[in-house]
Amino acid sequence: MMFDKKTLITTVAIAAFIVTGCAVSGSTYSEEEIGLRKTNLYSENTTNPDKTSYGKVAAGESKVIARAFENAPPMIPHDVEGMLPITRDNNSCLACHDPMVAEAVKATPTPKSHMASFRPLTTLDANGQIVKEGKVVDNTADIKTALHKRDGVSMERFNCSACHAPQSNNEPLVKNEFAPEFRSANGKSQSNLLDTLNEGVQ
Ligand code: HEC
Ligand code: HEC
Repeated sequence: MMFDKKTLITTVAIAAFIVTGCAVSGSTYSEEEIGLRKTNLYSENTTNPDKTSYGKVAAGESKVIARAFENAPPMIPHDVEGMLPITRDNNSCLACHDPMVAEAVKATPTPKSHMASFRPLTTLDANGQIVKEGKVVDNTADIKTALHKRDGVSMERFNCSACHAPQSNNEPLVKNEFAPEFRSANGKSQSNLLDTLNEGVQ
């Protein structure tokens, strides 16, 4: 690698700053200590992680958890005992979250985005060119997100727990400093993905 004189001086200065900085603050860690856990990194047999402890509050009595960021999939705030696994013939989540029944049981209805498929209809034309949503495109071309409405929840969304997960009550190992910004007043408790889907797409 080639350095001009100015870059070299800056690099050396930064390196010196880092080295003295560490020495002065005394924040060096031994190899045994560099993990997030409080025990020796090499002591696998005596280290027990915190137990996973999901909430036990029944559906209908739990408190919804604020969304982590705009249009984040909400966490499941209630016990899911007896509701999993979701199978082809049995999706108990929909027994309450299907928009047809959700209001009656005070569950959040599955949003409009779940009643749609976003997979573009893709074919090859006679010349072997890729046709997406009726338009000839390059393989890597960006197209406006396809939207094909479905009568009920799309099969692409059938496995709810692939995206919605319960929250375990454990102390985080590192404090989360992330502060989400919601552009709409109710963004903390509601999604609007279908209205914002094509933002930023040319
Ligand atoms: C017996 C009815 C019932 C069943 C079954 C059920 N839920 Fe719920 N769910 C609710 C209710 C009611 C709420 C609102 C919080 C409350 O009152 O406990 C809720 C809240 C939620 C939320 C949070 C929504 C928000 O606005 O933040 C998610 C996510 C969720 N449920 C996912 C699921 C999944 C996934 C399943 C299947 C594994 C499931 N639920 C099964 C009734 C149910
Ligand atoms: C591929 C991931 C994925 C799957 C699978 C999925 N969801 Fe979602 N869900 C999301 C995301 C992302 C959001 C927030 C953005 C949006 O509304 O699409 C969401 C939002 C929700 C909301 C909040 C609606 C609102 O108005 O705020 C509910 C309730 C919900 N999903 C229930 C379900 C249920 C029930 C299933 C299974 C039938 C399911 N989801 C399957 C990703 C998923």
